[in-house]
Amino acid sequence: MTQDFRFTLQATDGRARRGQIDTPRGDIRTPAFMPVGTAGTVKAMYPEQVRDTGADIVLGNTYHLMLRPGAERVARMGGLHDFMDWPRPILTDSGGFQVMSLAKLRKLDEQGVTFKSHIDGSSHSLTPERSIEIQKLLDSDIIMQLDECVSLPAEEDELNRAMELSVRWAERSKQAFNDAKGRALFGIVQGGDNHHLRARSARHLIEIGFHGYAVGGLAVGEPQDVMFSVLDEITPHLPTEKPRYLMGVGKPDDLLGAVARGIDMFDCVHPTRAGRHGHAYTRFGVVNLKNARHKDDPRPLDETSPNPTARRFSRAYLHHLVRCEEILGAMILSQINLSYYQELMAGMRNAIEYSTFDQYCASVREGWIKGDL
Ligand code: GUN
Repeated sequence: MTQDFRFTLQATDGRARRGQIDTPRGDIRTPAFMPVGTAGTVKAMYPEQVRDTGADIVLGNTYHLMLRPGAERVARMGGLHDFMDWPRPILTDSGGFQVMSLAKLRKLDEQGVTFKSHIDGSSHSLTPERSIEIQKLLDSDIIMQLDECVSLPAEEDELNRAMELSVRWAERSKQAFNDAKGRALFGIVQGGDNHHLRARSARHLIEIGFHGYAVGGLAVGEPQDVMFSVLDEITPHLPTEKPRYLMGVGKPDDLLGAVARGIDMFDCVHPTRAGRHGHAYTRFGVVNLKNARHKDDPRPLDETSPNPTARRFSRAYLHHLVRCEEILGAMILSQINLSYYQELMAGMRNAIEYSTFDQYCASVREGWIKGDL
């Protein structure tokens, strides 16, 4: 490991940013979409297929990996990159968000969070320090602070309490991180849909100082315009020379709107999960392959797609695979959806370079509307 973590802003178009993150394990072109590999696998895909869709980085989860197979075991196996045979950068989420959505009998206090595993009911705890330790054992390239995410709608008092706790945990995370190995630590802005709390959160985190700043606590039940107005409020407060990561977002239209507001990184289970449920993303919109109207349709999903897999199989065959719950259906549709997402990111990066971002977004949206599915 010689090279350090570094972010370079290469071009802007309005508030949209084209950049690159250099890490010892490879470069990440931004705006970037990170496929989710929760349990050390992007579900239903080989690592080389994930790379071939255009992904520069994948996401792993502290919560899942600490429960199974255990962070110390992954470390003994040479770290998460060797374990899953993905040699490129990995970002790991800190676990707090997953504890809140998955674990049972959760108890949160100043120290951290204790909970029972959703797998076998065993008791565990996560503190900011233990979360960092686990992410180091996994040998993550981009480590996230432990935070508390509140789902919306929520009272201001509750949003304020969770935001302030997350700031104190951010401080402890920075202390525990203490690492010069080319890894990065990101802070997470909280504060829900309250603009004052968001601004305060961002200010505190910037004082502590991180390699990048994430926006958490969004896509938690609020409409898209609320999410966009929070981004409008936050991104001007964030340092231009650091990457900005919108956590857990989103659908293609969310990505266009968030990049337009200055976001550089995204992750979401949506493309792979939708694929496993029979939904295909194309330039002409979403195709629900469960629908009986595809039963006799010999056409591929998109006969002029740059992705050979989207040109290869008939809709009738994909419908059949989905109806029979065949594993290959999940594999093909995960590949098609991640390819579409990466095509969209590449299109946005290119458009920012050529200062045609608005036109690009308009033409993408027109394709979704006009599409003959
Ligand atoms: N994933 C989606 N939203 C969040 C969040 O607010 N915090 C964390 N840690 N992960 C997330």
